[in-house]
Amino acid sequence: MKNAGRSTRALWAGEEEPHAYGAAQMPLVPAISFGYETVEEWRDVALMKRPGHIYSRNTNPTVALLEEKVRSLEEAEAAVSFSSGMAAISNTLYSLVKPGERVVSITDTYGGTNRVFVEFLPKIGVEVSLVSTDDEAAILAEIAKGCRLLYLETPTNPTLKVVDIAKLAAAGKAVGAIVVTDNTVATPINQNPLALGSDLVIHSASKFLCGHGDALGGILCGTKELVRHVYEYREINGAVLEPFSAYLIARGLKTLSLRVERHNSNAMTVACFLENHAAVEQVFYPGLESNAGHAVAREQMRGFGGMLSFTLREGLEVASVMERLKLAHRAASLGHVETFAGIPATTSHVECTAEQRAAMGIPERLIRYSVGIEDVADLVADLGQALVGSSL
Ligand SMILES: Cc1ncc(COP(=O)(O)O)c(C=O)c1O
Repeated sequence: MKNAGRSTRALWAGEEEPHAYGAAQMPLVPAISFGYETVEEWRDVALMKRPGHIYSRNTNPTVALLEEKVRSLEEAEAAVSFSSGMAAISNTLYSLVKPGERVVSITDTYGGTNRVFVEFLPKIGVEVSLVSTDDEAAILAEIAKGCRLLYLETPTNPTLKVVDIAKLAAAGKAVGAIVVTDNTVATPINQNPLALGSDLVIHSASKFLCGHGDALGGILCGTKELVRHVYEYREINGAVLEPFSAYLIARGLKTLSLRVERHNSNAMTVACFLENHAAVEQVFYPGLESNAGHAVAREQMRGFGGMLSFTLREGLEVASVMERLKLAHRAASLGHVETFAGIPATTSHVECTAEQRAAMGIPERLIRYSVGIEDVADLVADLGQALVGSSL
């Protein structure tokens, strides 16, 4: 798969060898235990002297197949999966950072991640310094003070801010930090943080990787050494991805590249439509030239992604506009084939109070719109009727 393109990798990585029975599709193996004829063989597998599986809290063939596909797409040395994106994030942080050490991150990480930073890590004596995502100089200054781990997310959820991975990762490396990037919103089709200097990349696989909103999962990719370290923690912590979810995510992944192409182009069309609409105050999408992160996004992304958000002008009812949308699930989550719309208080930052959201610069009048792969003319027409219905 070394020289293959991303569409080919998504299809064939982990499936180069024939499957059992000559099956032309990947196997779903729900077994939790794997048996051996001889004790010697069993012991060799357990000691990793030969390939094989022992127990599905450690490894499982279907789960390993998914890990191999994402590893290949991120061009990483190794990958390990988890029961959800938050399990990937918390297992990574808890296993790599000790009491007394310091983490630097940005204020706009996903709400669940932010809670780990403001509530959970400080409880175990980890110092966390969160810096305004817009203030690159301040982020660099905090990194320069020294830290064990630098945690980035770009584009952010829900305001799609972009940080310069290469610049910040270089600064992190200079002080000996492990650099971790949440790549959920971009996907490995649009962006590869490892190629930009990040040591580890995290995905909520529940989003674009799966794409169909029917399985929760998380994946971490990076160097063999770091991934192995986190794997050993997860092995005992037990936040393991179960095989049926791995199967669904791997099946979804096979069309990731096609889906993301469509998400990218639909989102660009919708963003331009919204930017020129009288009812809309501001559109947040890194593909727009007016966006503060556009120049960096052009450098580090191959496509601008399928998620955007926008604020309504004063006097317009967010709930009414949301409720008039016909081609959008009013539901949490993003990155699925259908369009989803939500407000941060019910989606990305449901874990936070209104004051915390305000402190993070997340407007309460923001609508997050995860653009699906519908015909874009239908999405534009739907948004048009929902916004025209607002009392302009
Ligand atoms: C950017 C980002 N990272 C992580 C997560 C957490 O993922 P999960 O819901 O799979 O735990 C989310 C969920 O919305 C997310 O948007």
